[in-house]
Amino acid sequence: MNPFSYGTIVKNEHFYDRQEECSRIVSTLSNGNNIVLFAPRRYGKTSLVFKVIEELESQDIVCVYFDFMPVFSVETFIINYVEAIKKKQSNLQNFIQTLAGVVRNIRPKLTFDISGNPEFGIELLETSVSAQTLSEVLDLPEKLAQSGKRIVVIFDEFQEITKFDKYNFESLLRSKIQQQNLNYLFLGSRTHLLNDMFNNKKRAFYNSASHIQLNTLPKEETISYLHRQFSTSGITIDRENALLLIEEAGDIPYYIQLLAAEVWQYMINSEFVVTTEVIKLCSNKIIELKQDYYFELFDRQSVLQKKLLKALVTNGENVFSSDYIKRFRLSATSSVQKAIVVLMDNGLIDKTMNNYFISDPFFRRYI
Ligand SMILES: Nc1ncnc2c1ncn2[C@@H]1O[C@H](COP(=O)(O)OP(=O)(O)OP(=O)(O)O)[C@@H](O)[C@H]1O
Ligand SMILES: [Mg+2]
Repeated sequence: MNPFSYGTIVKNEHFYDRQEECSRIVSTLSNGNNIVLFAPRRYGKTSLVFKVIEELESQDIVCVYFDFMPVFSVETFIINYVEAIKKKQSNLQNFIQTLAGVVRNIRPKLTFDISGNPEFGIELLETSVSAQTLSEVLDLPEKLAQSGKRIVVIFDEFQEITKFDKYNFESLLRSKIQQQNLNYLFLGSRTHLLNDMFNNKKRAFYNSASHIQLNTLPKEETISYLHRQFSTSGITIDRENALLLIEEAGDIPYYIQLLAAEVWQYMINSEFVVTTEVIKLCSNKIIELKQDYYFELFDRQSVLQKKLLKALVTNGENVFSSDYIKRFRLSATSSVQKAIVVLMDNGLIDKTMNNYFISDPFFRRYI
């Protein structure tokens, strides 16, 4: 088994560091505040949140985790949200009773599978979801909390809520949160959209949650992790090469594990010491494998977006300054601003402090 893991939530031996961030989130939520967690793509937000859930649940706080990504309609939101809440209920009878009492146009259904185990489902009694039903469903966690344990609701990929503008979902949820005695944790991978939701004075969620920013994983912890995981197969990596691997992966948690997995795959059964050549070779192999996709991705960009991507390979600071625009032969500041927004919305670039960077370090190298 490859000792490195990427592309899914990491747990146990694949998860390291983040103790500080974890305790900060846990204590902020336990103290009754809401949080929005910011980080560029693939920094480990969802994995950290699962760690937070473990901690909170050990304190007897019920955590409802809800991912907005697969939600494509308000109907699916309602069905999936009720299901996510139900999953965390120990008393099904009580849940069904509360649901029936709180949400008028949903009928809980209890059926039995072939082994006689009860299976829960819901039926929507209206052809299209009304604002009333949506409002009642959003009240459900609080109504359940009244009859017992504390509840924290976690909304992942929260920026996707903007898909439901016609329901005024954003302002409805905001007003619910103000009235409810629950706590919420928000996160998402499209930082630019999430940022606007929480930092724009005109938006409903402005000033509604404490901000927590997630950085890359500390280098020393990553070096120890690389040592530890390689050594399970008798492979050694010295400090210098561990640092090189981190650098090649753009110091981004996901890409560190991706490149390390590739190196491990290359070495297993033949070599025992990770060398600079092996890291470079594997890094090139990743680019080679994705070359067609990268070509197509780059080709799809407008002329200005292409120029900007090329400029960002060299430098991501002060991109709106006249010096920068002159140096990279870009056009008017307003066009550069628009191009930056498009690239961010499409997930090609990200931003930390005042620095814009290409999200995928291998795409960056390709360019
Ligand atoms: N604490 C960690 N320890 C080790 N690896 C990690 C850690 N956090 C993240 N990773 C690596 O990064 C990958 C992405 O993690 P995760 O899905 O949690 O990030 P994310 O920020 O939610 O990503 P997205 O922006 O795509 O939603 C993991 O599969 C793993 O390889
Ligand atoms: Mg995520």
